[in-house]
Amino acid sequence: MTQVFALRYPETRVGARRWLDHLWRRGRAFLGTDLAIMGGAMTWVSERNLVAAISNAGGFGVLASGSMEPERLAEEIRATRALTGKPFGVNLITLHPKLDRLVETCIAERVSHVVLAGGLPPSSAIARAKEGGAKVMCFAPALVIARRLVKLGADAIVVEGMEAGGHIGPVSTSVLAQEILPELRDVPVFVAGGIGRGEAVLAYLEMGAAGCQLGSRFVCATESIAHASFKKAFLKANARDAIPSVQLDPRFPVIPVRALANRGTQGFLEKQRDVIDRFNGGKVDQKSAQLEIEHYWAGALRRAVLEGDVEDGSLMAGQSVGLVSREAPTREILQELVDQAIDALVNRAKDFADFDPRADDAAGAVKFRSGGVGEAAR
Ligand SMILES: Cc1cc2nc3c(=O)[nH]c(=O)nc-3n(C[C@H](O)[C@H](O)[C@H](O)COP(=O)(O)O)c2cc1C
Repeated sequence: MTQVFALRYPETRVGARRWLDHLWRRGRAFLGTDLAIMGGAMTWVSERNLVAAISNAGGFGVLASGSMEPERLAEEIRATRALTGKPFGVNLITLHPKLDRLVETCIAERVSHVVLAGGLPPSSAIARAKEGGAKVMCFAPALVIARRLVKLGADAIVVEGMEAGGHIGPVSTSVLAQEILPELRDVPVFVAGGIGRGEAVLAYLEMGAAGCQLGSRFVCATESIAHASFKKAFLKANARDAIPSVQLDPRFPVIPVRALANRGTQGFLEKQRDVIDRFNGGKVDQKSAQLEIEHYWAGALRRAVLEGDVEDGSLMAGQSVGLVSREAPTREILQELVDQAIDALVNRAKDFADFDPRADDAAGAVKFRSGGVGEAAR
């Protein structure tokens, strides 16, 4: 027989943590972690040290393979494994000319989770990674694409909005979450982009997310090897400083990338103006002009992250950079996120205790039964 009793919000931190664990149980089970928080792969930043630190602290680190050769990736996977026995993933860029070999590397190194990023992944890459025993996660910029990826075999979806750092689509995280979370229930969905606090993690879990992915928040982790100047730029920046790259002429498309504005951003506009003028004057053909524009940022993220060239390098950052206020150990960053989610739940219980439903009922606004009636929690 089903027991019925008054259902209340958990009032203690222990109870709130249990509720949080309930909310993200699907994400935790999928990732094999204590927390359903992924450290989004960041090229040059998400190498062995940060990835292992995130996984060791209960989150899910993801190695960024960027433009690595397969042998280099194998070495980085092994080095990460030497630092952590916990699960972590590998992020592969689908446009990489050696994608197939990178997938084989992940299989040979027994990588448990492969994250396919940067455009729609070929169905063969999804199938092969799964056949090799990995769980496959794919990015979906719209519900129809999410559905198609699930049909192709994606085991989980990441929904990343335009607040995110790095390469972005046109739609915000909150709108994508509303479009996809209520509709896609057959696989776990992780939300990314613009998340910097535990309250936001909680909100997306309550909307149906299995977990969240954060990038910018981990750049200033003590274990992050990002150059001190790169970290300083993050600590100084406000949300509004992280802007998408600007395209001057539709004939010369620019892939939108969100980064902190610097001298390089200005230089990119001047480069485009110069190339467009030369193209209009018949001094350069369209293909060479496009290539010149595309090459402007080549190597620029590496220069910024590893060498600290914050003037002309690429300072990829999400709007959540405005919520990064100090350098701190990864474990503290994750604990802070969990604490913020727990505080939010406990405060809600307090609010609920102060709430007098009769007052509303007298005004005819709310129909209630004392305390709200729910089915017994098992
Ligand atoms: C410096 C930097 C580099 C990134 N590189 C990658 C990458 O190589 N592959 C990828 O899938 N996402 C990349 N991202 C996106 C992150 O994985 C993550 O989804 C994003 O940062 C989430 O938004 P947030 O920064 O607001 O938390 C990068 C982000 C940053 C800030």
